[in-house]
Amino acid sequence: MARAPAALPALAVAAAALAACGPDRPPVLNIPEPTPKGLEAVRALDAPFNAGDPAAGRQAFVLCIDCHDFTPEGMPGKGPGLQDIFGAPAAAKSNWVYSDALRASGFVWDARRLDGWIFNPHEALPGTTMGFIGIRSDEKRRNLIAYLAAVSAK
Ligand code: HEC
Repeated sequence: MARAPAALPALAVAAAALAACGPDRPPVLNIPEPTPKGLEAVRALDAPFNAGDPAAGRQAFVLCIDCHDFTPEGMPGKGPGLQDIFGAPAAAKSNWVYSDALRASGFVWDARRLDGWIFNPHEALPGTTMGFIGIRSDEKRRNLIAYLAAVSAK
């Protein structure tokens, strides 16, 4: 019994260390924050996309961050910049070498098109070079779309 009090602080330290790595602690992402104007743009979308949460989508962008940023340069060798992507035609960044498939797609990145793309890019467009398996969670896709719409709103 005399040992119990000494063991407690050690347990508390272990619990704190676990909490620090747990899912409760959002990753630090160097990407734009959604603005109030961006939030307005999300609310103006058709249902169910108007229910997306851009702040949660910003955190979910951790799934995209290896290949995409929001700079005009994009990430050479990885993926094009996604600034102003919402509502834009596909394959429109002049500094990026896209796949033939995406250049010929005629896609415009509205919410529905992005939804299919993020669900499974290879199913949405056979021949794309986006090496990403897709996201099955409807909520996570909706939040990501809300984030892209919000940061594209000017
Ligand atoms: C492994 C790298 C990689 C990951 C991860 C990735 N992408 Fe991509 N993405 C690409 C590449 C490469 C292209 C260009 C595809 C092509 O030319 O067919 C692209 C294209 C796109 C485009 C079209 C860009 C344009 O200018 O038309 C969008 C939108 C997009 N990605 C969104 C996302 C989102 C959202 C995520 C995260 C859920 C994501 N991507 C994850 C590599 C990636």
